[in-house]
Amino acid sequence: MHLPVLMAELVQAMNISADGIYIDCTGGGGGHAEAVRQKLTTGKIYVLDRDPDAIERLNQKFAGDPQVVVVQENFRYLPEVVDKLGIGKVNGIYADFGVSSFQLLEGERGFSLRRDGELDMRMNPDDGESAKDVVNNYSEELLGEIIYRYGEEKFFRRVAKAIVTRRNIKQFSNTIDLANVVKGAVPAKFHKVGSHPATKTFQALRIHVNQELVAIESLLRGVEDLVVTGGRVAFISFHSLEDRLVKEYLVRYEKPCTCPPEFPICACGRVPSFNIITRKPIAPTDKEIKDNPLSRSAKLRVGEKI
Ligand SMILES: C[S@@+](CC[C@H](N)C(=O)[O-])C[C@H]1O[C@@H](n2cnc3c(N)ncnc32)[C@H](O)[C@@H]1O
Repeated sequence: MHLPVLMAELVQAMNISADGIYIDCTGGGGGHAEAVRQKLTTGKIYVLDRDPDAIERLNQKFAGDPQVVVVQENFRYLPEVVDKLGIGKVNGIYADFGVSSFQLLEGERGFSLRRDGELDMRMNPDDGESAKDVVNNYSEELLGEIIYRYGEEKFFRRVAKAIVTRRNIKQFSNTIDLANVVKGAVPAKFHKVGSHPATKTFQALRIHVNQELVAIESLLRGVEDLVVTGGRVAFISFHSLEDRLVKEYLVRYEKPCTCPPEFPICACGRVPSFNIITRKPIAPTDKEIKDNPLSRSAKLRVGEKI
């Protein structure tokens, strides 16, 4: 079971037209898609996910509904996907980044540092290197860079060294084994109550394995030409690396002019394509955080095509 985050807020932000066309880039358990679908009369929603298990669940959930189209695709390639499906411009596109509870709870997928399973972490197991390939083969320097950049782990050098020292004796194959080695590399006085010391390293490996930030950046670049005037885009992020990208792109779309401030008139010719609807990101209420602690770091940002 996956509890959709900021569900009412997202549906409201999308300003759904009952006859509109929408794209949910991250179908997951289909909670957001179902809420959007309920607002449609003659409209249609395309629901994407890169994970074949999610696609199976979504197909079951929306079986027999001709207004919901489920497709296994990576949102990184959204313009190509839209072209392939012959959709044309749409009324709204949204994404709810990160992993679903299904992925976290299925220990064998390798996402969770609390449930033992093979160290895989690929959302699409047919796409790219697994976390096991990464920790067993990358240089200490490259591992350190990934753990620093995508995990913002200040003990990245110690963690990378501990991984390489251990794999020279015995290669990694399971999650808990890696989690314990990382825990041993983070000084005990920096272990926080309620957060496993390997959380940042696991996040970094997951982001790298799934090329998550590359995909998000490509999606943010791609949406500009896919939405009709007055249409909306909305993105739910779960950590600062994701939110920073969303914010940067929305600001750039709203104020694209690159002329120096002393220019009396714009000479670069770049015109705004989106207005930012959320000056400050929308965050979950205290009640939502209490009911679903996984929502605590969520931020929703919304833009409207002009
Ligand atoms: C947080 S969950 C979404 C939950 C969903 N909104 C719901 O209501 O159940 C994120 C989902 O996005 C998918 N995902 C992550 N990156 C993706 C990408 N680049 N392309 C397509 N799907 C992706 C994951 O497989 C996961 O199922």
